[in-house]
Amino acid sequence: MSNGKRILLIIAGGIAAFKSLDLIRRLRERGFGVTPVLTPAAEQFVTPLSASALAASKVYRDLFDLTDEAEMGHIELSRAADLLVVAPATADLMAKMAHGHASDLASTLLMATDKPVLIAPAMNVRMWEHPATRRNLRLLQEDGILSVGPVEGAMACGEFGFGRMAEVPEIVAAVEAALSAGPLTGRHVLVTSGPTHEPIDPVRYIANRSSGAQGTAIAAALLALGARVSFVTGPASVPPPPGAEVIRVETARQMREAVFAALPADAAVCAAAVADWHVANAAGRKMKKDGSGRAPAFELAENPDILAELSRLETGRPGLVVGFAAETDDVVANATAKRARKGCDWIVANDVSEGSGVMGGTENEVTLITAEGAEAWPRLGKGEVARLLAERIAARIG
Ligand code: CTP
Repeated sequence: MSNGKRILLIIAGGIAAFKSLDLIRRLRERGFGVTPVLTPAAEQFVTPLSASALAASKVYRDLFDLTDEAEMGHIELSRAADLLVVAPATADLMAKMAHGHASDLASTLLMATDKPVLIAPAMNVRMWEHPATRRNLRLLQEDGILSVGPVEGAMACGEFGFGRMAEVPEIVAAVEAALSAGPLTGRHVLVTSGPTHEPIDPVRYIANRSSGAQGTAIAAALLALGARVSFVTGPASVPPPPGAEVIRVETARQMREAVFAALPADAAVCAAAVADWHVANAAGRKMKKDGSGRAPAFELAENPDILAELSRLETGRPGLVVGFAAETDDVVANATAKRARKGCDWIVANDVSEGSGVMGGTENEVTLITAEGAEAWPRLGKGEVARLLAERIAARIG
């Protein structure tokens, strides 16, 4: 809950601004005080009166409003809040923030503040994917600006893709995570989770039985310690944790792209069960029986090893890279060799031999392999394993 914390909510001009009114309501329900700031473009989408009525607060609109300056200067306004939230954050405002403009009230407040800032980007998919926006986002992340979303979906402009503002409950969860000062506040952790699906043709694929439960629990535990979490997930059977930035992928190759696009990160936890191979001769159309009785021959090609690639990055390597190893025998010896082979810092090894009950179960018995040696943990619930691992990560990078 909020403990009466104050949010300065900057609403920029985009169609998603209509959701910001609901955001004000939900934040107030959770006990936050909300002071809205509207850019001139935002006023084309929502009225200052509705924002003010829902927030039960004065709405700030203009840098040169002398009455406002007499009541509260922009410096003071930018610091009276515990957190600045920009929702929606347009491509234009993100560019201004990245390059230090102070040309209007919103950008001036963002320059003058000494408080954490959370942005919820919203824009057309092409604008989101534009190299300039990617560059600006990277600069903002390097400056410690937190972000939530955008998500994939249909857009008001008729296109489909990434660029839709995160839904209100996700923004509220990100606000709460940003304000829950934990040991990982201000840290960015990348988590991979779930299985991958490797297509055979447009309707068939090769997969594995990973549910994504352990990766999801780890992401939730990291969020609870205040981390910003980029959660790159294959088609898992458990829902992603609220508050994480979720990037959904299907194949190992897509997972690799998503992981590298989410860098820089302070730590990476590769909990995904990535397929080792994809079908090199996957068919573009649904394969049919040809009546000959002959089965098609699949040609397999090796997938990129995301963990090994991350671990060996020369520039931009996360400070801590954690991998997983599912072993059926000689757990410690095999996992220790895997740690060396992949070049990661830690390996969380688990015994998945028949009778261990780990695969598909709710408990896990792991051994943490580090440079110092092997540390056997007792048999614990997967949530508890996640909590302990998150604490160890916090002790290392927090
Ligand atoms: N991993 C990865 N990319 C791959 C394969 C695996 O990032 N293409 C990561 C997993 O997320 C996990 C770790 O590597 O953290 C262990 O994967 P595993 O499949 O057990 O290792 P392999 O190298 O395939 O070794 P083996 O199958 O011989 O046990």
